[in-house]
Amino acid sequence: MKRISITVNGKRCESVEKGTVKDALESAGLKFGIFPGEGDLQAPCGTGGCHTCMVLQNKEPVRACVTPVEDEGVIETELPAGFVPLRIIHGPSPHSVGGKATPWWLKARPGGYIEVAIWAAGCNLRCPQCQNYAITCDSKSRPKTPQEAARLITSARQLYGVDRMAISGGEPTLNRPWLTEYFKELKRLNPDGQARLHLDSNGTILTPDYIDELVLKCGVTDIGIEPKGVRKETFMEITGMGDEKLVERYMQTQWEGIYHILQNYRDRVFLGVGFPYNRAFMKMDEVSEFGKKLSGLDPEVQVCVLDYFPAFRRKDLKRPDVDEMLEVKEALHEAGLRTVLVQTSRGHFGP
Ligand code: FES
Repeated sequence: MKRISITVNGKRCESVEKGTVKDALESAGLKFGIFPGEGDLQAPCGTGGCHTCMVLQNKEPVRACVTPVEDEGVIETELPAGFVPLRIIHGPSPHSVGGKATPWWLKARPGGYIEVAIWAAGCNLRCPQCQNYAITCDSKSRPKTPQEAARLITSARQLYGVDRMAISGGEPTLNRPWLTEYFKELKRLNPDGQARLHLDSNGTILTPDYIDELVLKCGVTDIGIEPKGVRKETFMEITGMGDEKLVERYMQTQWEGIYHILQNYRDRVFLGVGFPYNRAFMKMDEVSEFGKKLSGLDPEVQVCVLDYFPAFRRKDLKRPDVDEMLEVKEALHEAGLRTVLVQTSRGHFGP
């Protein structure tokens, strides 16, 4: 492959001609991490949605993971002071059911909307049956600042007359500066006691210090975390991931996050745990194992079981029918959990 010359942070080096800026930075010796603050830079989605990997190429801000490196390009990894983070966002849209951290007594309210939501592009997982793939994989839409996104969802709150404002994805916790600024601005625009600031996450990079910042400094009131199972093999199959060490770390972070919220914020944060089910990934004994692990932390915690339907690259999946989802619900009750809802093709059942 032809080599080209580039300058990285003032040092001349070489890169392959057809690579991305990220490839060029890696060949210059820089390390990319996934968790906030790890590595020289972070590139958690790698598909252009989250805008965590922003650098300057020839003085222009670009996403390192999807931008082609230029011959004689001058790359700087330090962004200018005052640079405002960006992120691709879809919505806002009103929601009549909400997410895994929407309390069940609101979901049960007949008719009308209970929440407004936005969805952030980019995810660190690669689920072949991603239920929201068109947004997750979007790298083309114009990104928005945290302030723009907060204004949009605040207007939607007023328009639909609701108190709950959710961000889901994709995975919203990628790009921590964007998310924390977004929630701070949202809190500023919605200072009333009724406003609920809801984060719907997979929980894989939601470390205790990140949770502390979101709750104590940004005013987040509702958090959803979604362990994909209790067994590493199941997690790998559901998420399409092959890196066992990373999978172990993701799973550990998810359960630590659940524990951390229950231990420290039981009185100020509503926690909802999501649990995706399809028999193609999981047998009933793992459902019971999951239930026992979670009920050991708190038997009252709300669990919302999502029925994986055919989507994206898994059109072959068979959507679980209502009876099968009620069987899952029963297995979780028998494992000690008291607040279990199941999502089905005929709406939510439970608790
Ligand atoms: S890692 Fe580059 S946009 Fe997400």
